[in-house]
Amino acid sequence: MPDLIQVSKDKTFALTNRFFSYVFRVSPEGILEHLHYGGPLSDPLNVSVHHIRTQREVASTFQGGKFFSLSDTPQEFPSFGTSDYRFPALHGRNSDGNTVFSLHYKRHKISKTKKPLKDLPSTRGGNCETLVVTLEDPLHKLDVELHYTIYQDFGVLVRSAKFKNKSDTEIQLQHAFSTALDLPPAEYEILHFHGTWSREFNEERIEVPKGRFVVDSARGTSSAAHSPFVAIMQKGASEAVGRVYATTLVYSGNFSINVEKGEFEDVRILAGINPFNFHWRLKPGKKFCTPEALHVFTEDGLRGMSHIWHDFIREKISPPQFKYKPRPTYLNTWEAAYFDVNEDKVLALADKAKHVGVDMLVLDDGWFEGRKDDTSSLGDWVADKERFPNGIPWLASKVKAKGLKFGIWFEPEMVNPRSMLFEKHPDWILHVPGRKPSLGRNQLTLDLSREEVTDYIFEKVDAILSCGDIDYVKWDMNRNMTEVGSAGLARNRQREVSHRYMIGLYRLLKKLTAKYPDVLFENCASGGNRFDLGMLSFMPQTWTSDMCDPVGRLDIVNGASYLFPLDVTAAYVGPSPNHQNGRVSSIQTRFMAGVFCAARGMSLNEQDLADNHEELKELMAFAKRTAPDMVGGRFDRLIKSDNEVCWQYTTRDQKTVYVAYFHILAAPNLPFRRARLVGLDGGAEYVLQEDKAKYQGDSLMNNGLPLPYVTTGHVKENVRYMAKGDFSSYLFEFTKK
Ligand code: GLA
Repeated sequence: MPDLIQVSKDKTFALTNRFFSYVFRVSPEGILEHLHYGGPLSDPLNVSVHHIRTQREVASTFQGGKFFSLSDTPQEFPSFGTSDYRFPALHGRNSDGNTVFSLHYKRHKISKTKKPLKDLPSTRGGNCETLVVTLEDPLHKLDVELHYTIYQDFGVLVRSAKFKNKSDTEIQLQHAFSTALDLPPAEYEILHFHGTWSREFNEERIEVPKGRFVVDSARGTSSAAHSPFVAIMQKGASEAVGRVYATTLVYSGNFSINVEKGEFEDVRILAGINPFNFHWRLKPGKKFCTPEALHVFTEDGLRGMSHIWHDFIREKISPPQFKYKPRPTYLNTWEAAYFDVNEDKVLALADKAKHVGVDMLVLDDGWFEGRKDDTSSLGDWVADKERFPNGIPWLASKVKAKGLKFGIWFEPEMVNPRSMLFEKHPDWILHVPGRKPSLGRNQLTLDLSREEVTDYIFEKVDAILSCGDIDYVKWDMNRNMTEVGSAGLARNRQREVSHRYMIGLYRLLKKLTAKYPDVLFENCASGGNRFDLGMLSFMPQTWTSDMCDPVGRLDIVNGASYLFPLDVTAAYVGPSPNHQNGRVSSIQTRFMAGVFCAARGMSLNEQDLADNHEELKELMAFAKRTAPDMVGGRFDRLIKSDNEVCWQYTTRDQKTVYVAYFHILAAPNLPFRRARLVGLDGGAEYVLQEDKAKYQGDSLMNNGLPLPYVTTGHVKENVRYMAKGDFSSYLFEFTKK
């Protein structure tokens, strides 16, 4: 393996692989000065030769220097108070009571590996190199280690920071960002995702404004309100072309991604723990590690960016034992019965599930003592004596005896005021003294910053999983945090609680998933309220949204796909009229909206199952047959407008190519449309399975695939038609010869 990291004598550092070069140097003043992030350079160390440093009359000069202002200098880890007025990566209080830190190069180290972070999830190493540059504030004896990992085969740069207090007095950290990236002036746009329950992953694309644009969360979860993701793009970048710099975090709590366009039009990106409401007391001799931030650079537009994310998440984030494992098809009880579940009903649904050809029965909410609605019993995790008299292990073994897998729902981080747990341990919740805790879905959040609480949760979940018949766990989390305080921490550490909660959650998940490596964990937070790379490090799939109406779901899947490979997503056929928005749609389109998600299933009651038996059977047979295809392949967004969506999915072995086309509202006399496919073998022949018609790869890419026509008019012979009416969909399946 060639060296991925080079260092010159005068301390210019260059990280280069076939995707990008990232270059910075130690300036004559000892500051880490950023030089280049972009396409790969053949002689990256040479960048500093042509580097221009500007000094303007209007800018303050750095600590007595004549021609050097930090306001006008791209940096690797800026602080505040010594001539840079932009938002800093480090900000806090030193032992003198002021907030001025100044970080200077101390030493560096390169290794051919990557170490995991101690308390937080982190990307896996392998074919990579890591550069650690230690900076120090000699006055206040604060060391800051900047960690950079570059991989041979991925276009992702991993960064994090570690703070070490080497003084004999306390240092207080307020901004402890994971990364800072200063991009040169240019016309940029921002792409980010926002939403709420059942409307996750809406795209917004705006020009980078002057001033500061922030996506963040103060809710205790990464949240669907603003996903922890920002792409800065060259103005006008498209799916196919354009420079893109994208950033996300391996973190599931309060985050912040800042984009600041300064007075000289340079653009600073900061990503990490949200500094709002965060305050960490770093005692002498102690360390503080930030979550990892990931950067992607590409010139190949948004599709190019997504390919890099997808490959990387699959290989380096998501649990490896599920990487290419086909996911079982399933029937989930939630929209089939809600809380009205009991042994007989579950067994009857299991029979129906078997009959329709699914692999797994999932018992969702409602199975534990007293849980007849959402007002009680979270926290207790004992099967309801009346409705499940024989207990969960018995039920699981019965379901398995029918030849199905068995899965179960938990919401372990929560407690209802009406529960045995709350009666016994009222102080185990996040709360602040003297204030009535606010409820969310009638429940309170357990204080996972306390080890006795995570131990209790482990015991409860373990008690069920240890029966050995549980194949799948849906791990839910249904409220945002309020009154965030802990009875387990001193008064002056209360602003550490949110982050300590995450450390506790990760500790718990690590222990559970290590004990049950073969249990398929699905991450859920009212759908996608905590869909991030932190949770994905432990759980190979996520319930992206409670929105199962296909029109609503299309936007959500499309939005999520910018960052996530659909391998890590689940989708099901829900009832019609849809329970969230009342829309009536066909079973076919309901299935199709999630056709490329790895985990596919249904949540339908006995009547729906009976009424649609044949169609469901066919769809589940298709889902089962294609389950191995839906892991490890390449997903491409081809068309996306308010009325049309077209996606391509190419399997990992590139032998099968699927194209899904959706038309939302029908209208007469529409244009005939084509989709130009991407990434095919131009010289190869692709056979369309439905009629064995042969297409040349280059023709599908350059001339395009004629899409089915939407009309209420009469049918002509050589034209392919969509089903009549609104919300129609069509799936092509090509086999490469
Ligand atoms: C959340 C989930 C749903 C379901 C319910 C159960 O809303 O997103 O899928 O599990 O909780 O209460």
